[in-house]
Amino acid sequence: MKVMVYKTAEEIAEAVGRIIIKRVADEPSCAIGFATGASPVPTYEYIVSEFNKGNISFKDMKTFNLDEYCDLPVDDKNSYHTFMHENLFDKIDVQAENINFLDGNAEDYDAESARYAEAIKAAGGIKVQILGIGTNGHIGFNEPADEFTDEAFKVTLTQSTIDSNQKYFGEQAMPRYAMTMGIGSIMRSEEIVLIATGEAKAKAIAAAVNGEVTPQCPASILQNHPNVTFFVDEAAASLLK
Ligand code: GLP
Repeated sequence: MKVMVYKTAEEIAEAVGRIIIKRVADEPSCAIGFATGASPVPTYEYIVSEFNKGNISFKDMKTFNLDEYCDLPVDDKNSYHTFMHENLFDKIDVQAENINFLDGNAEDYDAESARYAEAIKAAGGIKVQILGIGTNGHIGFNEPADEFTDEAFKVTLTQSTIDSNQKYFGEQAMPRYAMTMGIGSIMRSEEIVLIATGEAKAKAIAAAVNGEVTPQCPASILQNHPNVTFFVDEAAASLLK
């Protein structure tokens, strides 16, 4: 596991953005795993600016998002579908048929999980997976648990995640469940880049990098992945040994 410490979120955005752009330039039809939350937004801005300069096309790229809320219409302003379209997909030339999301409103969550696993396989596997990290060490919506998960599943969100994410929902009640890629699906990505900025992430970053590998800190499993880099600012790195 590599940890790269930067001064600003913009420097992180450029470093991660370059990794994605290079991968897509080398393999135009590859699958990239995308994440939501505030952390990857500057990276998406960097990618859009390079696209606008004519430096890269995403017309054959396939996308797989990590997670989606349950019991929320896909076109709700707080859905992760909406987030990705507003922050990235509508601003680049990715094709609608190449965009993949878990269906948080699926009738049969096991069938939905199997469908997603099959789609990832058919796309040749995820080449680069972008991750953020929750203040409790969650990745995707894999909350602290007794066991590491494998394929996608429906999760009950923890109070700490609800407290962290309620701000995005304002007056609207936040969903209590989500559908998320499992730890196994994330770990099968060829390369993983995790972005974390700010002091609020320092404890989770220290636990993930220096702590024991335990499902109580889901991100700690990344210590076992052969090609993972954490892109953090000084505040997020402040408790690292
Ligand atoms: C959300 C998402 C995660 C994200 C995390 C951190 O709950 N499901 O994928 O990494 O929270 O979000 P932020 O980057 O806004 O701190």
